[in-house]
Amino acid sequence: MTTTNSMKLTIEAKSQNESFARSVVAAFFVQINPTLEQVEDIKTAVSEAVTNCIVHAYDGAQQGTIEITCTLSEKSMTVEIRDFGKGIENVEQAMKPFFTTVSGGDRSGMGFTVMQAFCDSVNVTSKQGLTTVKLVKKVA
Ligand SMILES: Nc1ncnc2c1ncn2[C@@H]1O[C@H](COP(=O)(O)OP(=O)(O)O)[C@@H](O)[C@H]1O
Ligand SMILES: [Mg+2]
Repeated sequence: MTTTNSMKLTIEAKSQNESFARSVVAAFFVQINPTLEQVEDIKTAVSEAVTNCIVHAYDGAQQGTIEITCTLSEKSMTVEIRDFGKGIENVEQAMKPFFTTVSGGDRSGMGFTVMQAFCDSVNVTSKQGLTTVKLVKKVA
């Protein structure tokens, strides 16, 4: 087996695509023999990131796309979740536990905190029209 491999998935930002996206990422991850727990971890993190694109990036208007790129090395997978929506004004603030811009709904402000808990690293870059969440999950 070669030591690197990658794939790219483009989906519409619709809630019915969220479980599809996390399953596809998990199926790709299996190539580097993660534990079941590691598979569950990345699914949970991807689910939060994709949900954010659906709920926040396009304000639920369901008219944008989400690009997911996965890159495997021998001992880790990098997942980049990208949207072309409104962007995050203050990334540092957005990543704080319990910070949310949506009040009164079922949002808890814990999405980024969950990603950080279940991944080895989480990096977010954002400007209007382009937000990228980069997750790294190790298998070693
Ligand atoms: N892809 C995105 N595009 C625009 N804003 C985002 C995006 N992802 C997150 N945010 C902002 O960051 C905040 C925190 O996200 P998160 O920790 O997942 O909490 P929640 O989704 O429950 O609000 C959101 O309330 C939103 O303002
Ligand atoms: Mg969220």
